Amino acid sequence: MFQHLTQCRVLGSLSYSWRRRESLLITKRGRQMGILVENVSKNFGAFRALDHVNLEIKSGSLVALLGPSGSGKSTLLRVMGGLEVPDTGTVWLGGKDATYQPVQERNMGFVFQNYALFPHMPLYQNVDFGIKIYEEMHGISDPEQRWKRAYSLLRLIEMEHLSDRYPGQISGGQKQRVALARALAVEPRVLLLDEPFGALDPNIRKDLRGWLRTLHEKVPVTTVFVTHDQQEAMEVANEIVIFNEGRIEQVGTPKDVYDNPATPFVKQFIGSTNRVKQTPGSEIENIPDTFLRPHEVKVLGIEPPNQSGYQRSRITDICFGGSFIKMKCQILDTGHDIRIVVSRAKYRTLQAEQSKLEYLWIDTTQEKSVERIYSI
Ligand SMILES: Nc1ncnc2c1ncn2[C@@H]1O[C@H](COP(=O)(O)OP(=O)(O)OP(=O)(O)O)[C@@H](O)[C@H]1O
Ligand SMILES: [Mg+2]
Repeated sequence: MFQHLTQCRVLGSLSYSWRRRESLLITKRGRQMGILVENVSKNFGAFRALDHVNLEIKSGSLVALLGPSGSGKSTLLRVMGGLEVPDTGTVWLGGKDATYQPVQERNMGFVFQNYALFPHMPLYQNVDFGIKIYEEMHGISDPEQRWKRAYSLLRLIEMEHLSDRYPGQISGGQKQRVALARALAVEPRVLLLDEPFGALDPNIRKDLRGWLRTLHEKVPVTTVFVTHDQQEAMEVANEIVIFNEGRIEQVGTPKDVYDNPATPFVKQFIGSTNRVKQTPGSEIENIPDTFLRPHEVKVLGIEPPNQSGYQRSRITDICFGGSFIKMKCQILDTGHDIRIVVSRAKYRTLQAEQSKLEYLWIDTTQEKSVERIYSI
């Protein structure tokens, strides 16, 4: 053990350029690989979990699979990883048909929600274990190189100073970081993460999001992670795949899916959305509803407007959100509730008019709305 600590100290004093070269060592053998899912369906009994799914994941990208519970995210991840075989369709890995390729031949790293570390092994051995498996699989035995790698991975996750600790002696967030290091130890060509931060408390989850992005910048392995937390998907991923009932609704950058939702489901699922009935009785007249983000509602103020299009609404709730204020209003003509978000500066101007803010004139029409493209 002492020898390892000495090695650790020696490695700790290496220059930045050497460290950089060393971090390249982490990806040297594990080349990146793209994934193509072609027309994949998967049934469990009579239930269709994946319904003709087509998806391309580019080599080196960081992609989130996002959707409600039971929408098929984990099933698709498992199909990509070879833990499930699709009923129909093809999975291409790095341009090769891998639909029936055994999981151990796919060169992928997995991390699941519950950190599966070995409790009886200190952290450096937990990471080393992954490398040992890799070496056995490839008929290599190079203990010195292995230790270097284990410590460079612990350094990568900023935990080399805890290398002697056991899993029971570190926090949940730290365990997940070790689980990621261990997954990287096999020099995977793809990392598959299923709700890797799901069991952690919200503050730790937030820290780990930034941390995962940075890790991906340092080791740009193709990474697919499942989450049902849209904030997490937005903050971490370069690209988001939105699932609903076994089908993909949209694939796009976080900005795309938020600003240009392709379907009414996406518009309602991503971000907070008001469903506005423009005219009383519009259901009968078959006039489509408008979907409007709380920040898209135009707020005039308490004075009646000198132009048409505004509706008078009663404020039913005001909630302080830090740099913004959330309000819930009821449109007097229609009786519908609507959520509004205004900046604090805007809120101050509203307050300036009258100390007791009870009513607001608002405009719930908007230029761009999904139903112009997709009628619902
Ligand atoms: N082995 C199985 N046997 C039977 N049904 C299954 C099996 N695995 C998944 N399912 C069903 O397939 C559907 C999709 O499951 P999946 O685990 O992919 O959902 P998910 O999007 O990951 O949901 P969550 O966010 O809750 O994890 C669910 O209705 C689930 O009950
Ligand atoms: Mg799941």
